[in-house]
Amino acid sequence: MDLSINFAGIKSPNPFWLASAPPTNSGYQIMKAFDAGWGGAVWKTLGVPVVNVSSRYGSVNYRNTRMAGFNNIELITDRPLADNLREIEEVKKYFPNHAVIASLMVETKEQWHAIIKDVQNAGADGIELNFGCPHGMCERGMGSAVGQEPEVLQTIVGWVMEAAKIPVITKLSPNISHITDPGLAAVKGGTDAISLINTIKSIVGIDLDTYAPYPVVDGKGSNGGYCGPAVKPIALQMLRELACDKEINKVPISGIGGIETWRDVVEFILLGATSVQVCTAAMHYGFGIVREMEAGLIQFMKDKGYTTIYDFAGKALPNVTEWKHLNLKHKVVANINPDKCVGCELCYIACDDGAHQAIGLTEGSRVPHIIEENCVGCNLCSLVCPVEGCITMQKRDDGTQHLTWDERTKANNIPVTFNDELAGGRHHWVPAPVDALKNKRKDMRR
Ligand SMILES: Cc1cc2nc3c(=O)[nH]c(=O)nc-3n(C[C@H](O)[C@H](O)[C@H](O)COP(=O)(O)O)c2cc1C
Ligand code: SF4
Ligand code: SF4
Repeated sequence: MDLSINFAGIKSPNPFWLASAPPTNSGYQIMKAFDAGWGGAVWKTLGVPVVNVSSRYGSVNYRNTRMAGFNNIELITDRPLADNLREIEEVKKYFPNHAVIASLMVETKEQWHAIIKDVQNAGADGIELNFGCPHGMCERGMGSAVGQEPEVLQTIVGWVMEAAKIPVITKLSPNISHITDPGLAAVKGGTDAISLINTIKSIVGIDLDTYAPYPVVDGKGSNGGYCGPAVKPIALQMLRELACDKEINKVPISGIGGIETWRDVVEFILLGATSVQVCTAAMHYGFGIVREMEAGLIQFMKDKGYTTIYDFAGKALPNVTEWKHLNLKHKVVANINPDKCVGCELCYIACDDGAHQAIGLTEGSRVPHIIEENCVGCNLCSLVCPVEGCITMQKRDDGTQHLTWDERTKANNIPVTFNDELAGGRHHWVPAPVDALKNKRKDMRR
């Protein structure tokens, strides 16, 4: 089993990197992380040092889960450049085979050229361009102000490539409608690789006494950057868009956003990432989480017969298609396992109020029943059911038919008028409006 990677020329013993953020603020932290098993680290963004505010972080605590989403209004490093450069050199002495990548954010061409020279002299293995911060730095014309302007981004990548002798990764901001626009601009500018996502512009909540957004700074707040488990789906989608683009996927992509477990790592790799970066999970649980990531990844690769990361990178991409190519003839319906059901009725409530009135309560039994003719196979009941594996979706088509919206469109066989006979929901049974005022717990069809 070989977990090592060569990411655009940056060699690393494994694909697990710490993202540029507080866990990579100092040589002390990065040496501790490498010792714990991380293969690489992207140094907390270097530039003209800033002054930070207090406090800096906010959080979405969802039910019993702390930090399901995490938000910060922290800027780039507030430490002097000379201190950081000295520590980069020291880390490289102790860990010559690990990847140390210097994240950079400055303003002018001269500043870019000067700082690139500095980090190269310090022995960094690569450079990451931070075009992501959606707070503070963008007000100063940097960060997401660049990430949101593909032409500016391309120009700056061009400046960087003039001076860089080591591989350059362009880190993209997700605060944009079409992620392929800055992706393409980065490639045109000559970048060696791309990483994403940086944080999402956000307000995580309002203090109901002071009416200020979290985190509150002396009675006021500002939008921050959102990250952590809550942003993973957005990151996966953006990764997929880049990985499917024939121009962009000529360069490798480092996946970032909500990665916490080995499963997350595998999902990012399956969608085309060949290194992954982690911030919030390391801030929440510490560097030790890499041990579970490594053990899980190795077990997955053993189970599937893979020997390197590259054996399965991008393997999920052919299965991600446009909606219009999905098979309209595929049919599943919900099925309740009576042995597992605890009679909580959550499925009944969800389907009756939020879906298709396809679950009835059964007199004399705690187990609700599925009204198959109404079930559209939407999945909602199986998602709300608190018992794992109690509601499963069962296939009802025989697999012989395949028809897509695209094919129907080409065959002139789609609804085109407001009350069209071809409408999909036309033949579903729906209770009469007045039935809502009758016995609410009754199966309307009985
Ligand atoms: C407190 C904090 C500070 C951050 N600082 C930086 C930074 O200096 N440079 C940068 O490129 N990204 C920075 N990030 C963004 C992370 O590198 C990463 O892109 C983002 O948090 C998504 O990953 P995650 O969901 O694993 O946290 C920061 C994130 C947090 C939470
Ligand atoms: S799959 Fe959807 S429609 Fe079918 S029973 Fe469950 S919630 Fe109702
Ligand atoms: S949600 Fe699950 S456990 Fe609860 S009644 Fe429905 S099937 Fe049973």
